[in-house]
Amino acid sequence: MSLKITPLDAGLGATVSNIDISKPLDAGTIAALRRAWLEHIVLVFHDQSLSDPQLLDFTRYFGELEYPPYKLLNYSQGSGQKADIPVEINVISNVIEDGKKIGQLGNSEAKWHTDTPFVEQPPSASVLHALELPPSGGNTSFMNMYAVLDALPPALRARIEGRRCKHDVSHTSDGVLRHDYEESKDASECPGPWHPIVRTHPESDRKALYLGKRLYAYIEGLPVAKSEAVLDEIWDIAIRPEFTCEHVWRMGDVLMWDNRCAMHRRDEFDGTQRRIMHRSQLKGEIPV
Ligand SMILES: [Fe+2]
Repeated sequence: MSLKITPLDAGLGATVSNIDISKPLDAGTIAALRRAWLEHIVLVFHDQSLSDPQLLDFTRYFGELEYPPYKLLNYSQGSGQKADIPVEINVISNVIEDGKKIGQLGNSEAKWHTDTPFVEQPPSASVLHALELPPSGGNTSFMNMYAVLDALPPALRARIEGRRCKHDVSHTSDGVLRHDYEESKDASECPGPWHPIVRTHPESDRKALYLGKRLYAYIEGLPVAKSEAVLDEIWDIAIRPEFTCEHVWRMGDVLMWDNRCAMHRRDEFDGTQRRIMHRSQLKGEIPV
Protein backbone atom coordinates (compact mmCIF):
# COMPACT_ATOMS: atom_id res chain seq x y z
CA MET A 1 0.00 0.00 0.00
CA SER A 2 1.49 3.33 -0.97
CA LEU A 3 1.31 6.55 0.98
CA LYS A 4 -2.08 8.20 0.71
CA ILE A 5 -2.82 11.89 1.36
CA THR A 6 -6.51 12.74 1.77
CA PRO A 7 -7.38 16.44 2.18
CA LEU A 8 -9.94 17.18 4.92
CA ASP A 9 -13.25 18.71 3.89
CA ALA A 10 -12.30 21.89 5.75
CA GLY A 11 -10.23 25.06 5.55
CA LEU A 12 -6.96 23.13 5.93
CA GLY A 13 -5.51 19.74 6.85
CA ALA A 14 -5.05 16.29 5.35
CA THR A 15 -5.02 12.73 6.63
CA VAL A 16 -1.97 10.60 5.82
CA SER A 17 -2.56 6.87 5.62
CA ASN A 18 -0.65 3.69 4.79
CA ILE A 19 2.35 4.70 6.87
CA ASP A 20 3.93 3.68 10.18
CA ILE A 21 5.94 6.70 11.28
CA SER A 22 7.66 4.79 14.10
CA LYS A 23 9.73 3.06 11.38
CA PRO A 24 12.64 4.57 9.41
CA LEU A 25 11.34 6.50 6.39
CA ASP A 26 13.02 6.67 2.97
CA ALA A 27 13.90 9.93 1.21
CA GLY A 28 10.97 9.70 -1.21
CA THR A 29 8.46 9.30 1.62
CA ILE A 30 9.97 12.18 3.60
CA ALA A 31 9.83 14.44 0.53
CA ALA A 32 6.19 13.48 -0.10
CA LEU A 33 5.29 14.21 3.53
CA ARG A 34 7.05 17.58 3.40
CA ARG A 35 5.16 18.52 0.22
CA ALA A 36 1.86 17.47 1.79
CA TRP A 37 2.64 19.35 5.00
CA LEU A 38 3.50 22.56 3.13
CA GLU A 39 0.35 22.27 1.04
CA HIS A 40 -2.16 21.23 3.71
CA ILE A 41 -0.53 22.88 6.80
CA VAL A 42 -1.80 20.17 9.19
CA LEU A 43 -1.12 16.45 8.70
CA VAL A 44 -3.07 13.81 10.64
CA PHE A 45 -1.60 10.33 11.15
CA HIS A 46 -3.96 7.84 12.83
CA ASP A 47 -3.14 4.63 14.72
CA GLN A 48 0.50 5.37 15.51
CA SER A 49 2.45 4.19 18.54
CA LEU A 50 5.64 6.13 19.11
CA SER A 51 8.08 6.11 22.00
CA ASP A 52 9.62 9.50 22.79
CA PRO A 53 12.82 8.67 20.85
CA GLN A 54 10.68 7.57 17.86
CA LEU A 55 8.66 10.80 18.01
CA LEU A 56 11.91 12.77 18.01
CA ASP A 57 13.36 10.65 15.17
CA PHE A 58 10.24 11.30 13.06
CA THR A 59 10.40 15.05 13.77
CA ARG A 60 14.10 15.18 12.88
CA TYR A 61 13.32 14.03 9.32
CA PHE A 62 12.00 17.56 8.73
CA GLY A 63 14.70 19.66 10.40
CA GLU A 64 16.48 20.42 13.64
CA LEU A 65 14.70 19.82 16.95
CA GLU A 66 13.70 22.83 19.04
CA TYR A 67 13.42 22.88 22.84
CA PRO A 68 10.04 23.40 24.59
CA PRO A 69 9.18 26.88 25.94
CA TYR A 70 10.20 26.09 29.52
CA LYS A 71 13.74 25.58 28.29
CA LEU A 72 13.78 28.42 25.74
CA LEU A 73 12.57 30.82 28.44
CA ASN A 74 14.68 29.24 31.18
CA TYR A 75 11.78 28.84 33.61
CA SER A 76 13.16 29.13 37.12
CA GLN A 77 10.77 26.35 38.15
CA GLY A 78 11.82 24.03 35.32
CA SER A 79 9.25 21.97 33.43
CA GLY A 80 7.90 19.78 36.20
CA GLN A 81 8.18 16.90 33.73
CA LYS A 82 9.40 13.52 34.91
CA ALA A 83 13.14 12.96 34.77
CA ASP A 84 12.90 10.18 32.16
CA ILE A 85 11.26 12.48 29.56
CA PRO A 86 13.76 13.70 26.90
CA VAL A 87 14.47 17.43 27.17
CA GLU A 88 13.11 18.07 23.65
CA ILE A 89 9.69 16.63 24.58
CA ASN A 90 6.99 18.87 26.02
CA VAL A 91 4.35 16.95 27.98
CA ILE A 92 0.88 18.47 27.49
CA SER A 93 -1.26 17.02 30.26
CA ASN A 94 -3.65 17.72 33.12
CA VAL A 95 -2.47 14.67 35.07
CA ILE A 96 -1.19 15.13 38.61
CA GLU A 97 0.93 12.38 40.12
CA ASP A 98 2.21 12.42 43.70
CA GLY A 99 0.88 15.96 44.02
CA LYS A 100 2.90 17.21 41.04
CA LYS A 101 1.76 18.18 37.53
CA ILE A 102 3.42 15.91 34.98
CA GLY A 103 2.85 18.37 32.12
CA GLN A 104 1.43 21.70 31.04
CA LEU A 105 -1.87 23.27 29.98
CA GLY A 106 -4.32 21.60 32.41
CA ASN A 107 -7.85 20.84 31.20
CA SER A 108 -9.19 24.33 30.37
CA GLU A 109 -9.81 25.74 26.94
CA ALA A 110 -6.60 26.86 25.22
CA LYS A 111 -7.40 29.95 23.16
CA TRP A 112 -6.23 30.50 19.58
CA HIS A 113 -2.45 30.81 19.42
CA THR A 114 0.68 29.95 17.50
CA ASP A 115 3.21 27.84 19.39
CA THR A 116 6.04 29.82 20.99
CA PRO A 117 5.91 33.06 18.93
CA PHE A 118 7.32 34.93 21.95
CA VAL A 119 10.94 34.14 21.02
CA GLU A 120 13.00 35.75 18.23
CA GLN A 121 13.10 32.50 16.26
CA PRO A 122 9.80 30.64 16.80
CA PRO A 123 9.49 26.92 16.05
CA SER A 124 8.33 26.07 12.52
CA ALA A 125 6.51 22.84 13.31
CA SER A 126 4.83 21.17 16.24
CA VAL A 127 4.22 17.42 16.34
CA LEU A 128 1.71 16.18 18.92
CA HIS A 129 1.10 12.52 19.81
CA ALA A 130 -1.98 11.38 21.78
CA LEU A 131 -1.01 8.85 24.48
CA GLU A 132 -4.03 9.06 26.80
CA LEU A 133 -7.36 10.71 26.02
CA PRO A 134 -10.54 11.59 27.89
CA PRO A 135 -13.75 10.00 26.51
CA SER A 136 -14.72 13.34 24.97
CA GLY A 137 -13.60 16.97 24.79
CA GLY A 138 -10.17 18.44 24.19
CA ASN A 139 -10.67 18.71 20.42
CA THR A 140 -8.01 20.80 18.67
CA SER A 141 -8.94 23.26 15.92
CA PHE A 142 -6.60 24.83 13.38
CA MET A 143 -6.79 28.07 11.38
CA ASN A 144 -5.36 28.67 7.90
CA MET A 145 -3.45 31.95 8.12
CA TYR A 146 -2.83 32.17 4.36
CA ALA A 147 -6.58 32.11 3.80
CA VAL A 148 -7.31 34.59 6.57
CA LEU A 149 -4.82 37.06 5.11
CA ASP A 150 -6.35 36.66 1.65
CA ALA A 151 -9.80 37.35 3.12
CA LEU A 152 -8.90 40.68 4.74
CA PRO A 153 -10.55 43.66 3.05
CA PRO A 154 -7.91 45.68 1.13
CA ALA A 155 -8.24 48.70 3.45
CA LEU A 156 -7.64 46.58 6.55
CA ARG A 157 -4.74 44.77 4.94
CA ALA A 158 -3.17 48.10 3.95
CA ARG A 159 -3.25 49.16 7.60
CA ILE A 160 -1.17 46.21 8.78
CA GLU A 161 1.09 45.50 5.80
CA GLY A 162 4.68 46.38 6.66
CA ARG A 163 3.90 46.74 10.37
CA ARG A 164 5.13 44.59 13.20
CA CYS A 165 3.30 43.04 16.12
CA LYS A 166 4.63 42.63 19.66
CA HIS A 167 4.44 39.00 20.79
CA ASP A 168 4.12 39.29 24.54
CA VAL A 169 6.15 36.71 26.41
CA SER A 170 4.84 37.51 29.89
CA HIS A 171 1.38 35.92 29.49
CA THR A 172 0.19 32.60 28.11
CA SER A 173 -2.23 32.61 25.18
CA ASP A 174 -5.01 32.50 27.78
CA GLY A 175 -3.76 35.66 29.47
CA VAL A 176 -2.25 34.00 32.54
CA LEU A 177 0.92 35.68 33.81
CA ARG A 178 3.89 33.33 33.46
CA HIS A 179 6.23 32.57 36.35
CA ASP A 180 9.22 34.91 36.39
CA TYR A 181 7.29 37.82 34.75
CA GLU A 182 5.51 40.92 36.04
CA GLU A 183 2.33 42.60 34.82
CA SER A 184 2.83 45.50 32.40
CA LYS A 185 0.89 48.76 32.21
CA ASP A 186 -0.66 47.79 28.86
CA ALA A 187 -0.02 45.62 25.80
CA SER A 188 2.49 48.07 24.33
CA GLU A 189 4.69 47.75 27.41
CA CYS A 190 4.72 43.95 27.55
CA PRO A 191 8.09 42.27 27.02
CA GLY A 192 8.55 40.16 23.88
CA PRO A 193 9.92 40.20 20.33
CA TRP A 194 8.50 42.09 17.34
CA HIS A 195 7.49 40.03 14.34
CA PRO A 196 6.00 41.18 11.01
CA ILE A 197 2.19 40.85 11.04
CA VAL A 198 2.34 39.63 7.46
CA ARG A 199 5.19 37.16 7.04
CA THR A 200 6.45 35.33 4.00
CA HIS A 201 6.64 31.58 4.50
CA PRO A 202 10.28 30.63 3.82
CA GLU A 203 9.39 27.37 2.06
CA SER A 204 6.10 28.04 0.26
CA ASP A 205 7.00 31.70 -0.44
CA ARG A 206 3.35 32.57 0.32
CA LYS A 207 2.29 35.39 2.63
CA ALA A 208 0.50 34.53 5.86
CA LEU A 209 -0.90 36.49 8.76
CA TYR A 210 1.20 36.01 11.91
CA LEU A 211 -0.80 36.94 15.00
CA GLY A 212 0.61 34.76 17.80
CA LYS A 213 -2.28 35.26 20.18
CA ARG A 214 -5.04 37.84 20.73
CA LEU A 215 -4.47 38.92 24.34
CA TYR A 216 -1.63 41.39 24.92
CA ALA A 217 -0.84 41.56 21.19
CA TYR A 218 0.13 45.05 20.08
CA ILE A 219 0.61 46.62 16.65
CA GLU A 220 3.68 48.80 16.45
CA GLY A 221 3.22 52.53 16.15
CA LEU A 222 -0.49 52.67 17.04
CA PRO A 223 -2.14 53.95 20.21
CA VAL A 224 -3.08 50.90 22.28
CA ALA A 225 -6.83 51.45 21.78
CA LYS A 226 -6.36 51.71 18.00
CA SER A 227 -4.19 48.57 17.96
CA GLU A 228 -6.89 46.71 19.90
CA ALA A 229 -9.56 47.88 17.44
CA VAL A 230 -7.57 46.77 14.37
CA LEU A 231 -6.76 43.41 15.97
CA ASP A 232 -10.44 42.89 16.85
CA GLU A 233 -11.38 43.60 13.24
CA ILE A 234 -8.84 41.05 12.00
CA TRP A 235 -9.88 38.41 14.54
CA ASP A 236 -13.58 38.77 13.64
CA ILE A 237 -12.60 37.58 10.16
CA ALA A 238 -10.00 35.03 11.27
CA ILE A 239 -12.38 32.92 13.37
CA ARG A 240 -14.81 32.29 10.50
CA PRO A 241 -15.41 28.52 10.23
CA GLU A 242 -14.35 28.34 6.57
CA PHE A 243 -10.72 29.01 7.57
CA THR A 244 -10.56 26.25 10.17
CA CYS A 245 -10.72 22.51 10.77
CA GLU A 246 -11.48 20.65 13.98
CA HIS A 247 -9.69 17.49 15.05
CA VAL A 248 -11.42 14.97 17.31
CA TRP A 249 -8.56 13.01 18.82
CA ARG A 250 -8.23 9.23 18.66
CA MET A 251 -5.71 7.26 20.66
CA GLY A 252 -2.44 7.04 18.78
CA ASP A 253 -3.05 10.11 16.61
CA VAL A 254 -0.05 12.17 15.61
CA LEU A 255 -0.65 15.67 14.27
CA MET A 256 2.06 17.74 12.61
CA TRP A 257 1.35 21.39 11.87
CA ASP A 258 3.08 24.45 10.51
CA ASN A 259 3.22 27.29 13.06
CA ARG A 260 4.30 29.73 10.35
CA CYS A 261 0.89 29.66 8.66
CA ALA A 262 -1.51 28.13 11.20
CA MET A 263 -2.95 28.92 14.59
CA HIS A 264 -4.69 26.41 16.84
CA ARG A 265 -6.89 26.19 19.91
CA ARG A 266 -8.12 23.41 22.20
CA ASP A 267 -11.52 22.78 23.76
CA GLU A 268 -11.72 22.19 27.48
CA PHE A 269 -12.35 18.69 28.79
CA ASP A 270 -13.43 17.03 32.03
CA GLY A 271 -10.63 17.66 34.52
CA THR A 272 -11.31 14.38 36.34
CA GLN A 273 -10.27 12.52 33.18
CA ARG A 274 -6.66 11.92 32.11
CA ARG A 275 -5.20 13.39 28.92
CA ILE A 276 -1.51 12.94 28.06
CA MET A 277 0.08 14.21 24.83
CA HIS A 278 3.77 14.41 23.99
CA ARG A 279 4.92 17.22 21.72
CA SER A 280 8.11 17.79 19.77
CA GLN A 281 9.02 20.88 17.78
CA LEU A 282 11.26 21.94 14.91
CA LYS A 283 13.55 24.93 14.99
CA GLY A 284 12.17 27.72 12.81
CA GLU A 285 13.43 30.87 11.16
CA ILE A 286 13.28 34.52 12.22
CA PRO A 287 9.93 35.65 10.67
CA VAL A 288 10.32 38.07 7.75
FE1 LIG B 1 -0.24 25.13 21.23
